[in-house]
Amino acid sequence: MIVLGLETSCDETGVALLDSERGVLAHALHSQVDMHRDFGGVVPELASRDHIRRLLPLVRRTLTEAGVALPQVDAIAVTAGPGLVGALLVGASFGHALGFALGRPVIDVHHMEGHLLSPLLAQPKPTFPFVALLVSGGHTQLMRVDGFGAYRLLGETQDDAAGEAFDKTAQLLGLGYPGGPAVSRLAEFGVPDAFAFPRPMLHSRDLHFSFSGLKTAVLTAVRNAGNLCEQVRADIARGFVDAVVDVLVRKSLAALDQTGLRRLVVAGGVGANDQLRQALKQAAAQAGAELFFPPLALCTDNGAMIAMAGLARLQAGAAEQSLAFGVRPRWPLGGS
Ligand code: KG4
Ligand code: ZN
Repeated sequence: MIVLGLETSCDETGVALLDSERGVLAHALHSQVDMHRDFGGVVPELASRDHIRRLLPLVRRTLTEAGVALPQVDAIAVTAGPGLVGALLVGASFGHALGFALGRPVIDVHHMEGHLLSPLLAQPKPTFPFVALLVSGGHTQLMRVDGFGAYRLLGETQDDAAGEAFDKTAQLLGLGYPGGPAVSRLAEFGVPDAFAFPRPMLHSRDLHFSFSGLKTAVLTAVRNAGNLCEQVRADIARGFVDAVVDVLVRKSLAALDQTGLRRLVVAGGVGANDQLRQALKQAAAQAGAELFFPPLALCTDNGAMIAMAGLARLQAGAAEQSLAFGVRPRWPLGGS
């Protein structure tokens, strides 16, 4: 079975063809980062309009690269939420119209379920049950995953998401948008503990997170430093990354202990972070836990993870084919 996955929830147009037997046949991505950079963040209306421009050429390119003709597509999976309403509508209306024209089922996918299942696109892949650390621009969550669709929220951020904290720190350090990778690179040159930032909620005895206080601590450090030379910026970046990584690693291990599970899956844009990956590898090995990541290119938003979640839903019996469709800009994972 071949599933076409379409992702348009934010600032990346992602398209992929996934074969249930052979895995990802091809995937293509267009990032709008260059377009939004001048504005310091995503401009929703520009995002929607760009998805309209990009989607059809990307679908054509993906089909050609995979050597698949449109009638060979058995189902279409679209991101139905959460995300920017206009951006979501582009992918959803395109996908549903295509499904209707081809007479194929269209599966609405939760964006975070896509991230959650993206490690299944890697080898070796995790088996259920596992604990998932979801760290993206909008979410920071620990979930217990017992199977497809069987998700229990263990803890989540009470304010900013980890990716958001990366992006805001980048802005404060003059690194532009989006900031995660840039902060991470700069931190490599920083002196450890030159700036000891707080580890919010580390001892809260639950699995929740908070990153807004850390952002304020970075802001205060930047203000106090006055003239920011390159080394001070690197030291601040290092202090910030160490604090975020420390909290994410320790809470993930606490989630393993609390659930008694020994498999940890990390997904979402911040899962591409090198420092986090290294620290988790070390901590998981010490704790005797197995650690799984999606392929690096599939950590951030992409169509393959949406196709993966759509395929899982189809195999579990979902078969929607109706002319009515909708999107859900706010949609809790595991919620109705
Ligand atoms: O999952 P994602 O692509 O989109 C959302 O669903 O939000 O995550 C985007 C977030 C951004 O905040 C970005 O700065 C962060 O992931 N990010 C990183 C890295 N790559 C992306 N943060 C830290 N280090 C990275 N290497
Ligand atoms: Zn995402």
